[in-house]
Amino acid sequence: MRSEKEAKANLERAMKQEFACPDVCLVSNGTHAIEVLLTAMDLPRGATVLVPELSFLATATAVARCGLIPLYADVSREYLGLTLDSVKSATRQGVAAVIVVHLAGFVNRELQEIASHCRAMGVPLIEDCAQLHHGFYKGVRAGNVGTAATFSFQSSKLFNCGEGGAIVSADESLMTQCKALINWGWPGEGTAAQFDIPSSNYRLSYLQCERLAAELAQVGRKVAALRDFYGQIAASAAKLGKTYLRAQFAGDFIDSPFFFMVTECRPNHQLEPRGQYPMSGSSVVLAILRKWFPDLVPRYLQANAGRAANLNSIHVVENYGFLRISQFDGIEAVERELEQL
Ligand SMILES: Cc1ncc(COP(=O)(O)O)c(C=O)c1O
Repeated sequence: MRSEKEAKANLERAMKQEFACPDVCLVSNGTHAIEVLLTAMDLPRGATVLVPELSFLATATAVARCGLIPLYADVSREYLGLTLDSVKSATRQGVAAVIVVHLAGFVNRELQEIASHCRAMGVPLIEDCAQLHHGFYKGVRAGNVGTAATFSFQSSKLFNCGEGGAIVSADESLMTQCKALINWGWPGEGTAAQFDIPSSNYRLSYLQCERLAAELAQVGRKVAALRDFYGQIAASAAKLGKTYLRAQFAGDFIDSPFFFMVTECRPNHQLEPRGQYPMSGSSVVLAILRKWFPDLVPRYLQANAGRAANLNSIHVVENYGFLRISQFDGIEAVERELEQL
């Protein structure tokens, strides 16, 4: 059996190659990855962070847990992510960071434009890639367009080690801070410990490293299987007269659909009981702020008072069905679900 150090180094090498990134920080899960990254960015307490109205609630809870205020902006009905327009209007109000989520495995179709806008505004852009492991935007791996990106390797994801996460970025000093924050202040071999930062233990265990390395080695087979199953579901949906978001497997955008998104149907939110959609209605985010940052609650509520205007997000919540592709064993089970929508 490999030593802990070798297992971690082996996974880091494989991840850098697979994710085409210069550095990686392995973390206990995808929620901690966002929390650690935001902490490493050292944003002022109570600063506003733009998040999509539609995501798994971890995106917003992580912001709140860091003593920051989530501001919810509308998403596109076509690709489910923040639009350039929604980012522009929110950044006019002043935000300290923007988090784009490649929801359901669909690459944000305005990623480069949003990234350019954020660069011009001097605002860091985070890509939450928890639901997109193998996406490309004009040949660039999604996760490498913004300032930094976070991933989840929880059991339902394409690459899975039970629970796990990662942060990737080309910003060396940001990565050093992330590595220190997850490991009681010590970024690793050849570096000095930092005992004056709010560090903790958010490490990925070496058993998880071994499992994840084995998953990455299967990338070709996994991606092909996913696409094949997506194609089968699409054929069944067409047969049943359902409309759906079309994933692209070639061209400018290469998706890695995590959910099969049926549009204009009877929605099925019982599928994800932990989800709270849209997120501005999340009682969990509010509970976190009330518990640890009660003074921020009035500003949080005020900042999001007009969120009823996030009409596309509300439309998706009320009219789209989410079928998590990895949840099904075979096409018969999917067809039974499709018929309910
Ligand atoms: C968009 C998004 N962000 C963050 C997370 C959090 O990841 P984890 O479950 O590994 O904490 C998830 C989990 O599914 C997610 O879907």
